[in-house]
Amino acid sequence: MCRNVGQLLIEWFPNMISHPRLAYADEGHGPPVVLLHAFPLDGRMWDAQKEALANQHRVVVPDFAGFGRSQDRKPRSSLDEHAEDLADLLSALGIECATVIGLSMGGYVALAFARRYPKRLLGLGLADTRAAPDSPEGRTARDQNIELVQRDGVKSLVERMLPKLLSEQASTDVVARVRAIGNSQSAQGVSAALAAMRDRPDSTSLLAGIDVASAVIVGSLDAIATPTEMRDMAHRLPRAELTIIDGAGHLANLEAPLPFTRATLALLARASERSARA
Ligand code: MLT
Repeated sequence: MCRNVGQLLIEWFPNMISHPRLAYADEGHGPPVVLLHAFPLDGRMWDAQKEALANQHRVVVPDFAGFGRSQDRKPRSSLDEHAEDLADLLSALGIECATVIGLSMGGYVALAFARRYPKRLLGLGLADTRAAPDSPEGRTARDQNIELVQRDGVKSLVERMLPKLLSEQASTDVVARVRAIGNSQSAQGVSAALAAMRDRPDSTSLLAGIDVASAVIVGSLDAIATPTEMRDMAHRLPRAELTIIDGAGHLANLEAPLPFTRATLALLARASERSARA
């Protein structure tokens, strides 16, 4: 049973909350939804969805430790630690349960959260992400990317990643936005996240036990988490709806904000039906 004490209570009695470890945005009123960002970005990648969802929902958008406005927090060495940070943040905000939506690295953290705190999930959105762990070649590539960041800085990694993060159809504005957010991250935070993603566990067997409303969303041109892999993820989740966004790449919410937002609103409606019945 979820007991979300609500924003007003927190605003009236701020001393009852512990100090959250993460920087975050917290906007709107209604059933809570959390948006977890991709790598090597921060919560700013969700600006369009935050605005759209805040009409009907309380939208919480953290910056993971080591990223964005949480760059001064100690970077985490595992995705489980990022999930713990999220649980602490939600508790500090008086939110017992929420729909959690993560894109790519945000999806890895959402899966870690689902594994560790299943009772705190109202719904789950997995966008352009993977349940499988890194292959041996993928792990080697992570190590090479850590070396690159240490040697040449974050900008070199961002330039290397851009062709995979965005499709060739992405607008120049979106490319510039991703470059600016990526380039503003610290080498320390980025290196720690690369190691955490390299060492993430296989979450494939977790999927069958996730019994909340879920959504699997992927850009049809995603070269990192392919539509084939995400279709398989949707088949394994008992209550998933799959949305393939035509013509969008890996950062589908940035390349195709409207269809992406529609898919998240559909998930939130299904998650709210369930919580209203409970
Ligand atoms: C992301 O977008 O978060 C990363 O591309 C994920 C990854 O490298 O596995």
